[in-house]
Amino acid sequence: MDQILKDIEQKSLEILLTNRRQTDGFQYTIPSPQTYPYQWLWDSCFHAIILSYFNPEDAKKEILALVSKQFENGMIPHMIYWQKGDVINLNWGKDGTSSITQPPMLAYAVWEIFKKDHDKKFLEVMYPHLYHFYNYLLTDRDPRKNYLIGIINPDESGEDNSPRFDIPLGLPPQHTLDENTKRRYKLIDENLTCNFDAPFCMKNFFWVKDVPFNAIFVENLRVLVLIADQLGLKDDALNFQQQQLEVTKAMREKMFEDGLFWSTYGEDYKKIKVVTWAIFIPLFAKILSQEEAVDLVNNHLLNPDEFWCEFPIPTVALNEPSFDPEGFWRGPTWIAVNWFIFKGLLNYGLTEPAEKIMRTSIELITQSGFREQFNPLNGKGSGAYDFTWGALVIDMIKSFETPIGEKSLI
Ligand code: GLC
Repeated sequence: MDQILKDIEQKSLEILLTNRRQTDGFQYTIPSPQTYPYQWLWDSCFHAIILSYFNPEDAKKEILALVSKQFENGMIPHMIYWQKGDVINLNWGKDGTSSITQPPMLAYAVWEIFKKDHDKKFLEVMYPHLYHFYNYLLTDRDPRKNYLIGIINPDESGEDNSPRFDIPLGLPPQHTLDENTKRRYKLIDENLTCNFDAPFCMKNFFWVKDVPFNAIFVENLRVLVLIADQLGLKDDALNFQQQQLEVTKAMREKMFEDGLFWSTYGEDYKKIKVVTWAIFIPLFAKILSQEEAVDLVNNHLLNPDEFWCEFPIPTVALNEPSFDPEGFWRGPTWIAVNWFIFKGLLNYGLTEPAEKIMRTSIELITQSGFREQFNPLNGKGSGAYDFTWGALVIDMIKSFETPIGEKSLI
C-alpha cells in the first residue's frame, strides 16, 4: 500500500498543482482544465481536505478564496468565475459568481485543516463566515422552520441530473441529457425571475429537500459545534448542537421509511422513491443506529442487484429504470461518492466493505486515470480529464490506516 499511496500522492499533487490558479491575490484550484475552468464550492472543500495533508497553508488559501465571494445574506456561491472563460455560458444572475450554492462541506473542510496544524487563528478568521453560511441555510432555506434545508435547483445538490430530481422536474425515468439540461435551464430562467429569492423559488419552482444535502449539513453542524467549542463560544456550540439534533429529528420524521431515507418534494414532503447512492449518506452523518446501518449495508450496499457490482458504488441502483452506466449522475461511479460512503462505513466500524470501496477506487484511478466518472460495470472512465476528485483516495487510504479521531485533538 505504501508504494500505491506514494504514486497516487504524486499524481494527485501534479494535478492539483497544474489546476492551481491565482487571481486577484487569491489562490484556488479548478476541478479540470478543459471542462471546469472556475472554482466550485464543494470541489474546493475536497481540495482543501486533500491539501491539508501536504500543505495546510494551501488548503487555507483554497477556502479563503471561496469565502471571499460570500453573499451579504451568508450564501456561498457554487461557482466563482475568477477568470471568465467560455466553457460555461449561463446567466446565473450575478457578475462573477453563480447565485446558487452546493452541499455545505465547508465546516468539515475547515476542521480537517485545523486537525492537521491546530491553527486557531484560521478558525477565528473562518468562524464568522461559517456562522453566516450555516445560519443562512437554517433560515432562508427553511422558511417554515421545519428543520429541513431546501435546494432551489438540482445543481445545488452537486448531482446535476440525478434521477432523484426527475419527478420534481416533471421528467420520466428515461430521457436524454439534452432533455434534462433543457429542463434545468428553464428552471434557471424561473430562478432568475425572482432574483434567486430562495423561499420564493422553492415554493414556486422547485421544492426539494435532498437527503445528501441535509445529511452533509448535519455532519457539518456537528463539526461546527467542535469549532465553536475550540473558540470558547459555548452558547454558539450549544445552539448548533440543538440545530443538529433538530435536523436529524426532522430527517427521521419526514424522510425515513422502512430503513431508508428518501429525498422529498413539495409542500407536504412527498417521498421520491428512487434508489440512488443517497440512501447511504446517512452513514456519513451518523444518523442511523448500528443495527439500521448494518441492515442497510447488507440489504442494499452488498446487494449485487443494486450496488455491489464490479466497480462500486454506482450512483444509481442497477435495478432502477433510470440506471445508465454512462449517464453522468445516473449510474457511473464517482470518487467523491465513494469517499462519502467509505467515511460512513468507517463510522460504524464496517471496515470490510469500506476497504473494498477504497481498493476499487484505487483501481479505477490507476487503470482509467483521474477521470470525472467511471462505468461501474467495466471501470471505463468518462467525462472530464485530470479531474481532481480522484485525489480523495489519499484521504481514504490515510483514514483507513490511521483513523484520526476527534479524540486525538482534545
Ligand atoms: C459537475 C458536477 C458538480 C461539480 C462540478 C465541478 O457539474 O456535477 O458536482 O461541482 O461539475 O466539478
